[in-house]
Amino acid sequence: MNPRTNRSIGVIDRYRSLLPVDESTPVITLGEGSTPLIESRKLSALLGNRCRVFLKFEGANPTGSFKDRGMTVAVSLAAQRGATTLICASTGNTSAAAAAYAARSGMRCAVLLPAGKIALGKIAQAFVYGAKVIAIDDNFDACLNVVRELQKEPTVAVVNSINPDRLEGQKTAAFEVVDELGDAPALHLLPVGNAGNITAYWKGYQEYRQLNRASRTPRMVGFQAAGAAPIFLDRVIPAPETAASAIRIGNPASWGPAKTALQESGGAIDIVSDDEIFAAQRWVAANEGVFAEPASAASVAGFMKCADPSRRCSSCPMAQLPDESSIVLTLTGHGLKDVASVLDQCPAPLKAEANKESVLSLLS
Ligand code: F0G
Repeated sequence: MNPRTNRSIGVIDRYRSLLPVDESTPVITLGEGSTPLIESRKLSALLGNRCRVFLKFEGANPTGSFKDRGMTVAVSLAAQRGATTLICASTGNTSAAAAAYAARSGMRCAVLLPAGKIALGKIAQAFVYGAKVIAIDDNFDACLNVVRELQKEPTVAVVNSINPDRLEGQKTAAFEVVDELGDAPALHLLPVGNAGNITAYWKGYQEYRQLNRASRTPRMVGFQAAGAAPIFLDRVIPAPETAASAIRIGNPASWGPAKTALQESGGAIDIVSDDEIFAAQRWVAANEGVFAEPASAASVAGFMKCADPSRRCSSCPMAQLPDESSIVLTLTGHGLKDVASVLDQCPAPLKAEANKESVLSLLS
């Protein structure tokens, strides 16, 4: 909350001097950013309490994912440049954010989605925020190729992460982590799909290091779903498959910059199976009270893999951590976006009569 205006400030007002905006930029915000950094003692315990583990819960953003950080910057600058229509390809979260910020700005919005592969909550968001929803009978990578062709249309602004303004906004998550911890963590773990977010975090950490607001940069560790792991396998995956639909991507747009981030930071990329992802999603909800969507849980699944000496790879950055190190895991989106994938695995609720004895008998 900004004490002077008594309203929530978004990432542009919080980090204005480090973003490509000027006084005449119309700030289109929903009060995004400033998301919780939640310490997880139970994850720390998996490393014998040698390190402190934190969850950066991006599901707390206004549309329920980290995309809002990039969208406020991209949409504000698009408005300043005179765009009237926003367009994006999406596995769901970008389209939800684009549609919301378009509504806020008064611009039109069209979203291209892989037909039948989007979590229901995200489709509902695009519709209710008033976007034109266009289903394409192909995967995300094909949708993004169409959007690339529309880039040159006058008054149209593409708000995928191929628009550099998106990454500028998303780098603010790294600023927040350093501002809260007092320095950069030793490791930062996050899920990787189109690879924009890992690129943006790395940019943010580097900028803070250059400004001496951090004494170091973290090793960046990315996790892809095993069936959609182009960077890990070092080849395009023509038909990526994972139930974590947000990261069902076979040819990431920010592949090159993500590889640079991994190399320069001394980090690593690894894979997690869908079973590991769903187990981690349930674990972090049931143990820490944080409900993240499946793709987000890839960072938790990845942490669990790396914390286990019998499962991690020989060069795992977690094996070489000094004691007292901080580790941050980004949980990129809210679990409520995709309840179907959870309900599939839920047992039926217990049944009781409407009296105390009946309920108590179930508790014993
Ligand atoms: N987690 C969630 C919840 C996402 O929605 C995405 C990407 C990622 C992780 C991966 O981030 O692409 O920057 O590597 N979602 C995009 C979308 C592709 O269209 O919503 P990334």
